[in-house]
Amino acid sequence: MHDSVTESLNPAADLGASDAEKLTEVPGPRGEAAPGAARGAAYDSDFLRAARREPVNHTPVWFMRQAGRALPEYRKVRTGIPMLDSCLRPDLVTEITLQPVRRYGVDAAVLFSDIVVPLKAIGVDVEIVPNVGPVFANPIRDFSDLDQIRPLDPAADFSFLAEAVGQLVGELGATPLIGFGGAPFTVASYLIEGGPSKNHEKTKAMMLGAPELFAALLDRLADLTAAFMRVQVEAGASLVQLFDSWAGALSPHDYERYVMPHSAKVLTSLADLGVPRIHFGVGTGELLPLMAAAGADVIGVDWRVPLDEASRRVGPGYAVQGNLDPAVMFAPWPVIEARVREVLADGARTPGHIFNLGHGVTPDMDPDRLTRVVELVHEASAR
Ligand code: CP3
Repeated sequence: MHDSVTESLNPAADLGASDAEKLTEVPGPRGEAAPGAARGAAYDSDFLRAARREPVNHTPVWFMRQAGRALPEYRKVRTGIPMLDSCLRPDLVTEITLQPVRRYGVDAAVLFSDIVVPLKAIGVDVEIVPNVGPVFANPIRDFSDLDQIRPLDPAADFSFLAEAVGQLVGELGATPLIGFGGAPFTVASYLIEGGPSKNHEKTKAMMLGAPELFAALLDRLADLTAAFMRVQVEAGASLVQLFDSWAGALSPHDYERYVMPHSAKVLTSLADLGVPRIHFGVGTGELLPLMAAAGADVIGVDWRVPLDEASRRVGPGYAVQGNLDPAVMFAPWPVIEARVREVLADGARTPGHIFNLGHGVTPDMDPDRLTRVVELVHEASAR
């Protein structure tokens, strides 16, 4: 596993983005079984096979937020460099993305970036404040504030991104790179609140009280996120994840009416690329069927709903991803081991399972325990 990063001698690893594009055929409905997906070097990995609901040699595993402060090597390279500045530097993006692959032996890399990077790239005044999160200098209050989100010129605005992804895909060889973007609602919640929020009150006030403004904002964000994700796939990412982390704050009715059309715009706009699309949020048990129907191939599940139950809710046409409670990582090892085995047993009753935490790695997690979890998942699921 650890070797896959250095295994660039694999002849298929030389397959760059342009070759992959040439091999792209027209995909089936919502990329069904990804018949014509970009056949890069990672195409036959267990990771992509699980996403396509094909048989695997072992259950693939990665961790959301696997790159980051839990790793001393991350803290070292980030010293003195603001978070969003580091995301715009291809050399740092490449190094930080590879760190958890080397360390944990996970089955996929996830691009080191952030859901607000596309806004930063078009000049919006945003910074990520340590231990707080994204903070916007000029929150969206009325239509004139939307001018901050100017039209995008992907070639110029995202050149740093294409460069980083191109470098990474070369280094990773047969290990897939996951590209991602923030869903319109979750990004909008930061833009409207001005920063992180517990109850999303300003966001919901706009959604319900100024629905045209809310829709116009989410529509612009959908285009921006879709372009951000498309650049990553065109540069060689093997699949994508749309993060709607805070969608669980909404009732199914409000989600369907005010939010789902914009997330569906992002996901369906990527269908022609033929790569699997993961759709994830926290506390979304009641939203899973809608989130699946928005255009996902894999549905991300937090720890509140067992994977087999989540699969039952969305139906057989979707793989599932998840869902060890991140807090379990702070319990004694025998508890962790038992819980990992439970997640695997639930996952075995679904059409395809990618192991993950139910939300991201937190800064205090012990990296050695995450390594042990990867080893356990691989051993316990070996076919
Ligand atoms: O998963 C990965 O390793 C890829 C990198 C990644 C980051 N952010 C890096 C990051 C991804 C996929 C994200 C997505 C993201 N960013 C989400 C959706 C995922 C989720 O966790 O729900 C959200 C809501 C954000 C917004 C954001 N950015 C928050 C809430 C924070 C944490 C603030 C803090 O300091 O606690 C960030 C900062 C951030 N993004 C860090 C990292 C590694 C920490 C920055 C640091 O090192 O100081």
